[in-house]
Amino acid sequence: MPINVTGLFVALLVLWVVAGAALYGLVFIFKHQPRPETSNEKLYYTNDGLEDTTYSLPSRLLSITDGPSATTDLSVVIPCYNETERLGKMLDEAVGYLRSTRLKYEIIIVDDGSQDGTDKYALNKAVELKLAPHIMKVVKLDHNRGKGGAVTHGLLHSLGKLALFADADGATQFSDAEHLITYLQKLPEDSAGVAIGSRAHMVNTEAVVKRSFIRNFLMYGLHTLVYVFGIRDVQDTQCGFKMFNRKAVKMIFPHMHTERWIFDVEVLLLGEIQGISMREIAVNWQEIGGSKIDLARDSIGMAIDLVVTRLAYIFGVYRLDECGNETKKKE
Ligand SMILES: *[C@@H]1O[C@H](CO)[C@@H](O)[C@H](O)[C@H]1NC(C)=O
Ligand SMILES: *[C@@H]1O[C@H](CO)[C@@H](O)[C@H](O)[C@H]1NC(C)=O
Repeated sequence: MPINVTGLFVALLVLWVVAGAALYGLVFIFKHQPRPETSNEKLYYTNDGLEDTTYSLPSRLLSITDGPSATTDLSVVIPCYNETERLGKMLDEAVGYLRSTRLKYEIIIVDDGSQDGTDKYALNKAVELKLAPHIMKVVKLDHNRGKGGAVTHGLLHSLGKLALFADADGATQFSDAEHLITYLQKLPEDSAGVAIGSRAHMVNTEAVVKRSFIRNFLMYGLHTLVYVFGIRDVQDTQCGFKMFNRKAVKMIFPHMHTERWIFDVEVLLLGEIQGISMREIAVNWQEIGGSKIDLARDSIGMAIDLVVTRLAYIFGVYRLDECGNETKKKE
């Protein structure tokens, strides 16, 4: 029997359309739109001894052309969820380093709906470290957003010429911030830049080898997905230690959609799409207990978010100039 070429062609076409529709459906079901900020989320607490007194955060950065200009050298944004166990050591290290530089800085703690008193703990720590009021700003989110949402919130209300987000667990040696700063300061004036803390140089060291087989297996699976779905130039996309100059903050974060896992990938994707200078910079890192990510439990969610994020930009479901634009949302 001769092969019916037309039939085959039609079958392939149908298959193609069905697959496309299924992917579009997937994107549509899992796409994410961050909820608008509540009025409480535009306020912060500080260690001025006036309990329950709040101050307004600087207005949200909406685009490359607007927003307040930088009034400090470095903003450090720390997303926190139930971090009373780990935050203290991290802050000791961070403030120790920051004091050793001549930089003016602010520390923005974004409490992502903790229930263990992380907010009060951070303020007490600021007193203990003798930080002048308003150096540390504690912002409480009314409802949990996820780490990406917390980081985005903090960065969009930051005032630094440079801004770092750093995990509360203190897994990265804080003084390595120096190398990230050096990279960003060397960029030509007026260019946007991202310095990506990276553990890629540690792949064969004890910290990684000691992990269980299943953990490493899932890690490699995710790395492969990240590679396939877009970020090829960056080996370690997930390290919680990334620094941005103000132009990069304004170009990337108003457009963020992903608030949970793998938001880092959307950050880098937005950097790539807009041609922002990005460089991976080796940092010292050690595994710290008490991680809230359970790779076995969360890897499906991560994989879905990853694929959906990439496809959403391809299909135009996610677009630049869409998120964080309160003017637009009101229309
Ligand atoms: C956060 O801390 C509160 C109070 O200690 C506890 O009830 C809650 O289960 C914790 N949440 C997680 C996810 O650990
Ligand atoms: C926000 O939306 C308004 C109205 O559509 C538009 O004029 C403006 O350029 C947008 N800004 C950003 C940052 O997307």
